[in-house]
Amino acid sequence: MATPSSSFSVLLLLAAAICLILLPDSAHATPVDFQYCVDEVLYRVSVYEVDITPYPAVLKKPITFNISASTVVNIQAGEVEMEVYDGKIRLYSGTTELCKGDIHCPILPGYFDLSEVRTIMLPSGPFYTVKMTLRETGRFELTCISFKLPSRFVPLRAQ
Ligand SMILES: *[C@@H]1O[C@H](CO)[C@@H](O)[C@H](O)[C@H]1NC(C)=O
Repeated sequence: MATPSSSFSVLLLLAAAICLILLPDSAHATPVDFQYCVDEVLYRVSVYEVDITPYPAVLKKPITFNISASTVVNIQAGEVEMEVYDGKIRLYSGTTELCKGDIHCPILPGYFDLSEVRTIMLPSGPFYTVKMTLRETGRFELTCISFKLPSRFVPLRAQ
């Protein structure tokens, strides 16, 4: 006969199984928490959402960073700088053109989407911090945000 404690264990197992089924699929975009580098009011570009795919990231493989943002100024040309920090130590930095692929410049005031694909050649770590800066070429910083980048280890043979 089932004792109260054994039926409790069965309930726990069931609950755990349900949690596993409901876990988000890492192939889908996950909005991440981000912070502005300084007060948002100082920036001409506001960020609404940051999605990272896959999430957690797999380092040494392409990672897609999708950003939804809006601008209050025309952006004639610009660049996207991404820096990866381990604490205060900068381990990676790379800058690409803002106006490329699906992004046609000038970007007029209003909403726009940014999709950055980066391959970050770092060993998998539980957490890095990414700092992403949008600059209008040769001019001011349009926006700057930072967010945590958890990464997951994928064994070489599984790649
Ligand atoms: C990221 O943005 C690109 C370009 O807009 C889009 O094709 C892709 O589906 C987006 N990825 C996710 C996971 O939202």
